[in-house]
Amino acid sequence: MTVGFDYSKSFIKKHEVEFMKPFLKEAHNLLHDGEGPGNEFIGWLDWTEKYDRQEYEKIKTVASSIRQKADVFIVVGIGGSYLGARAAFEALTHTFHNLLPKETRNAPQIYFAGNNMSPKYMTDLMETLDDKEIYVNVISKSGTTTEPAIAFRILKSHLEEKYGKEEAKNRIFATTDKSKGALKTLATNEGYETFVIPDDIGGRYSVLTPVGLLPLAVAGIDIDQLMEGAHEAAIQYGNPNIDENRCYQYAVARQILHRRGKEIEILVNYEPGLQYLGEWWKQLYGESEGKDGKGLFPASVNFTADLHSMGQLIQDGKRNIFETSIVLESAQKDLEITEDEENLDGLNYLKGKTIGHVNRKAFEGTLLAHLEGNVPNLIISLPRLDEFHFGKLIYFFEKACAISGYLQGVNPFDQPGVEAYKSNMFKLLGKEGY
Ligand code: PA5
Repeated sequence: MTVGFDYSKSFIKKHEVEFMKPFLKEAHNLLHDGEGPGNEFIGWLDWTEKYDRQEYEKIKTVASSIRQKADVFIVVGIGGSYLGARAAFEALTHTFHNLLPKETRNAPQIYFAGNNMSPKYMTDLMETLDDKEIYVNVISKSGTTTEPAIAFRILKSHLEEKYGKEEAKNRIFATTDKSKGALKTLATNEGYETFVIPDDIGGRYSVLTPVGLLPLAVAGIDIDQLMEGAHEAAIQYGNPNIDENRCYQYAVARQILHRRGKEIEILVNYEPGLQYLGEWWKQLYGESEGKDGKGLFPASVNFTADLHSMGQLIQDGKRNIFETSIVLESAQKDLEITEDEENLDGLNYLKGKTIGHVNRKAFEGTLLAHLEGNVPNLIISLPRLDEFHFGKLIYFFEKACAISGYLQGVNPFDQPGVEAYKSNMFKLLGKEGY
């Protein structure tokens, strides 16, 4: 019952892995001794052991109270303060969570805001809130990010208008820096309940902190299991021996493929609930490795849907890609395909088989086709899509990303490039000082 990794379908040769071993050893030591670039942001490495138990219990208590009282819970944040929670929410809750009757859901409807600058999105969201009991979690480490700040300003004034300033305070929860930043100051002045984003954990590594844990607990996700899975991963993937460490095998395999000339890594899933895992993963790898003129371009596809759109390019286009496929070993829910008297669609040969079975064959068939098309495949398998294995997978990707970044010779924990568009935008908006 573990996260599996198989690089036997990647055309990587044994000697290539052997060649990487000394570099891997160096990367492992840099990370674990805390002596690599960006070492002030490696708090996630042993987080599952050292996290603040008191804060964790507070998350559970607050979440349970919100679950009882709220019809709608709005999670406001962007980038690292958004994508992890969204990925876990989409993967681990009912596909149509917000449409289920409240008694079945046993949790509020969950909406995300502040992750775009779309006037339509925000207006449409506000239009769904009539007659609902609303609670808000605003998440921002810096406290100054424009998208969530604008969304929060609108939601705050809506809550204050609807409930009065005093009651609005009881419905707003701020997740931010422990002592500094505009959101911290606002939360202190207004008297909001706050949760702390640790100083030594950057946004894209923060899903297992209150950033992800509060929204996920409110959504009814078992955060104990999530943390337990991640903790088991932290122990297993602390092993410096690549032959026993699948996470390191992944980090090394993608660097070998990159050095062979592959420019694009495509994360593939066969489960719509994993679409946002792809979005989270793209930020994690794109922001960590895409710098100093280097970096694999992380892309993602959702199969089988995208086999009908991107399948052609992957099979037959420029051979600068490899795939990392996420495969679920078992379907927790499944439906049987029934016999039809007329059989006009010709599907009677599948009578008694399940959709899950067909999905599996779609994966196996696609894998064979793409291998024939010279697309190396790295395969990550999960026994089932549950909190424990999702927690493990999160840590798997985080640790592999850090190691891969060190193998590539970059600082995997900074993001100097993300500021460039902001200063242009602020200048155009007439912000003081720009
Ligand atoms: O990783 C990053 O730096 C970004 O994606 C940030 O997480 C994102 O901009 C949100 O930042 P903040 O939490 O400060 O609002």
